[in-house]
Amino acid sequence: MLNYCYLLFILWLNMEFAAMGIHELRPGFYNKTCPEAEIVVRDVMKMAMKKEPRSVASVMRFQFHDCFVNGCDASLLLDDTDSMLGEKLALSNIDSLRSYEVVDEVKDAVEKACPSVVSCADIVIMASRDAVFLSGGPYWGVKLGRLDSLTASQDNSSNIMPSPRSNATSLINLFSKYDLSVKDLVALSGSHSIGKGRCFSIIFRLYNQSGRGRPDPAIEPKFRKKLDKLCPLGGDGNVTSDLDATTLVFDNQYFKDLVNGRGFLNSDQTLYTFPQTREYVELFSVDQEAFFKAFVDGMIKMGDLQSGQPGEIRRNCRVVNS
Ligand code: HEM
Ligand SMILES: *[C@@H]1O[C@H](CO)[C@@H](O)[C@H](O)[C@H]1NC(C)=O
Ligand SMILES: *[C@@H]1O[C@H](CO)[C@@H](O)[C@H](O)[C@H]1NC(C)=O
Ligand SMILES: *[C@@H]1O[C@H](CO)[C@@H](O)[C@H](O)[C@H]1NC(C)=O
Ligand SMILES: *[C@@H]1O[C@H](CO)[C@@H](O)[C@H](O)[C@H]1NC(C)=O
Ligand SMILES: *[C@@H]1O[C@H](CO)[C@@H](O)[C@H](O)[C@H]1NC(C)=O
Repeated sequence: MLNYCYLLFILWLNMEFAAMGIHELRPGFYNKTCPEAEIVVRDVMKMAMKKEPRSVASVMRFQFHDCFVNGCDASLLLDDTDSMLGEKLALSNIDSLRSYEVVDEVKDAVEKACPSVVSCADIVIMASRDAVFLSGGPYWGVKLGRLDSLTASQDNSSNIMPSPRSNATSLINLFSKYDLSVKDLVALSGSHSIGKGRCFSIIFRLYNQSGRGRPDPAIEPKFRKKLDKLCPLGGDGNVTSDLDATTLVFDNQYFKDLVNGRGFLNSDQTLYTFPQTREYVELFSVDQEAFFKAFVDGMIKMGDLQSGQPGEIRRNCRVVNS
């Protein structure tokens, strides 16, 4: 009897939370309604990686840019409409986020298997995990059960997402607003173990760090020569460079590079310059297991962010259902 009352109470609690738009996330959420969901996602990610190795890194970045703006609700994936400016053209996203079509391909495949069951928000979370795993990084069970937003906010995205010029102090402050610790910040920055960045994102640190017409002194000289050549002042800002020395492999090379002054972005190298974050950079540079464990913890915490707004299961990740 007591158990029964308890069950009813939990049921009621869940209904209350759901009405508020907060959902209990759990592994295996689609085990009954779409048991093949995770396999379908992985297969499409595998194919995308074969076609273009960088694409899985580009997709993994979506989790960060989605979850930090009103929670993990696929608001990032909505295209602009006549009445709403989407997040794709926000400051940190325009000309930078890419491979949206890979998410479309995943969604199409999942919809074929189980129509209108699996949210785009959950697809981003599954695909990000798979990007890491397929690149040789850790595997972890993802919590699922998110809904897709009915709106997006370009302003919120522009105001929130950090600039590549950020220093460690401002990054610590930003992440703390999401209950993400200094360790979470450093570990999650290790996502830059895969993927590329543009010259546009580092021109200031090569030629005008702190507005003094000088380069960032934290860049190791030989590495700076290489970057100067790749990214001359007044050159093509869209030219890209690897974010670490082993760009296709998810490993702790990123942290070794930081220790050697070979971080690509200012927001990367600053993690070694500032004492609060340096201890974790040093730890992860010599202990890949510690990095993997902290990274998984951080991804799960980031994946727990929710807006509390009502949602739906979108049929097409780019538009709300009519
Ligand atoms: C700590 C604050 C962060 C800053 C300031 C930052 C900034 C950036 C910048 C500027 C780029 C290159 C963009 C370009 O030049 O077009 C980039 C790339 C990337 N970021 Fe971050 N990032 C941060 C954290 C994260 C997190 C938490 C993740 C995921 C968990 C992530 C995943 C990625 C990936 C995978 C790429 C490569 C994407 C590609 O090759 O298309 N970043 N980031
Ligand atoms: C869901 O299914 C997978 C694969 O069959 C299984 O490994 C997992 O334990 C299940 N999870 C739950 C919570 O039932
Ligand atoms: C943007 O963020 C503010 C809080 O910072 C919130 O009140 C507002 O609803 C958000 N806008 C959208 C469209 O989500
Ligand atoms: C870090 O960046 C913030 C925001 O741009 C700035 O106000 C602060 O002075 C910087 N801190 C240091 C120590 O450079
Ligand atoms: C460097 O930055 C300062 C301050 O923002 C600016 O006044 C100056 O014009 C910049 N110099 C170059 C070469 O861009
Ligand atoms: C990069 O290319 C896009 C077009 O794909 C263009 O609109 C943008 O201005 C270019 N950005 C830079 C920094 O050159």
